[in-house]
Amino acid sequence: MLEIAVFASGRGSNFEAIRNAIIEKAVPNARICVVITNKETAPILGRAAEFGIPSAVIDRRRFDTHEAFDANILEVLTEFSANFVVLAGYLKMIGRPILERYRNRIINIHPALLPSFGGRNMYGLNVHRAVLEAGVKVTGATVHLVDEEYDHGPIVAQETVRVAPDDTPESLASKVLEVEHEIYPRVVEWFAADRVQIDGRRVTIRSK
Ligand code: GRF
Repeated sequence: MLEIAVFASGRGSNFEAIRNAIIEKAVPNARICVVITNKETAPILGRAAEFGIPSAVIDRRRFDTHEAFDANILEVLTEFSANFVVLAGYLKMIGRPILERYRNRIINIHPALLPSFGGRNMYGLNVHRAVLEAGVKVTGATVHLVDEEYDHGPIVAQETVRVAPDDTPESLASKVLEVEHEIYPRVVEWFAADRVQIDGRRVTIRSK
């Protein structure tokens, strides 16, 4: 059983897409056990409450050290028996102790085709601005495993979106978000069905 902890700092539309897929498609073997946010004001908290999913606010500013912050996160993960982590717009780096305990069990979604347009400061509209400035003709969404570097771990899934001549950062963001809501739940299903095979940087999905 995939006991999923969702980490988010904002809106939570990917969280909602995953939650809906689990409920509507009755994804067996998956459940969101807790939502963790670093922001007390994150709208995702309201969504989690509506769905009756427990949540925890773990604000880095309330801890003296990174170690204490990470230890608190690990405590909550243990309390809810989480064995899988889904990052959905979480704007903090995942600490080493968490990476070590959840090696190859943490995924993230990025609103571009990695390895392009990733890394520090590449979040939100910054990503889509950079895409437009570079003049590329396709962009998209990437789901990847999380490692020690920003937007760097092995790629699990990607889907493209065409860049139209009249696109703005905002229009691209909304087109990419639609694609995110399709691929992120699909990847969660793959993990729940134990179909994901990781071989170094190459990830393959076993057929059913
Ligand atoms: C998404 O665009 C995702 O790619 C990025 O953060 C955003 C989160 O959106 N990592 P939401 O909170 O899921 O609506």
